[in-house]
Amino acid sequence: MSHLIAVAGKGGTGKTTTCGMMIDYLCQKNQGPVLAVDADANSNLNEVLGVKVEATLGSIREEIAHAELQVKSPIPPGMSKQDYANWKFNDALVEEDDYDMLVMGRGQGTGCYCFVNDLLRGQIVKLAQNYKYVVVDNEAGLEHISRGTLPHMDTLLLVSDCSRRGIQAVGRVARMVEEMKLNPKTVKLIVNRAPGGVLNDGIKEEIANQGLDLVGVIPQDETIYEYDCDGKATSQVPDDNPVKMAVRKIMEDLGF
Ligand SMILES: Nc1ncnc2c1ncn2[C@@H]1O[C@H](COP(=O)(O)OP(=O)(O)O)[C@@H](O)[C@H]1O
Ligand SMILES: [Mg+2]
Repeated sequence: MSHLIAVAGKGGTGKTTTCGMMIDYLCQKNQGPVLAVDADANSNLNEVLGVKVEATLGSIREEIAHAELQVKSPIPPGMSKQDYANWKFNDALVEEDDYDMLVMGRGQGTGCYCFVNDLLRGQIVKLAQNYKYVVVDNEAGLEHISRGTLPHMDTLLLVSDCSRRGIQAVGRVARMVEEMKLNPKTVKLIVNRAPGGVLNDGIKEEIANQGLDLVGVIPQDETIYEYDCDGKATSQVPDDNPVKMAVRKIMEDLGF
């Protein structure tokens, strides 16, 4: 059985950066191959990891959904829509040495997508079984998980910046997860971009107000900023980078 780790939180808090470092950690510990899933419509996990992505599931879904409506169908003669979809699906899986990657891409346009959605759901769930770990970079709404496009999550990591409002935002995500009965075994909070890597009392108080369980604090870091500005993959900062070390400690504390 694979273990699905979902990362969620408000935009700009460092979800994707954290995901990239977690994937790097699992690969370094020979826990791979890991399946990395970018489930944020604003996808950029591939940039953090330094991978090129040609096709997203969203683009493939559009193609399949509209294939039959076109004058010249892209489906080769004699191939069923189902087989065509299976074949196309493989195009969306990016294979690296230590991990594979899927990008969910944008949400759907208008039209009937039931067939494609059901198909993709089946394929992703089947694919995920081949991996020990699946790491999913989500948007705050956890859309793909709540709709069942992605398998059940085992661990939910809520990422917040070091602000009261950030903590309140992930508090809302935690309550939504409860209301939707998504039932992850573990829900933990990570506070990112903390000046000097420490939390002040106001933030600690807000964490308590929200009833969240803190697993680790990641410092604000210049090297990440520089890599980002230079367009370099931030997951590839040196192993002694403070952000990388903080994520490693969090993963160890979580038992990964
Ligand atoms: N600990 C950190 N120190 C410095 N910059 C960071 C840190 N974490 C994230 N960033 C930067 O903040 C921006 C947003 O991070 P990102 O991981 O893309 O957030 P999200 O996925 O939540 O939108 C990026 O430019 C990233 O490089
Ligand atoms: Mg992101």
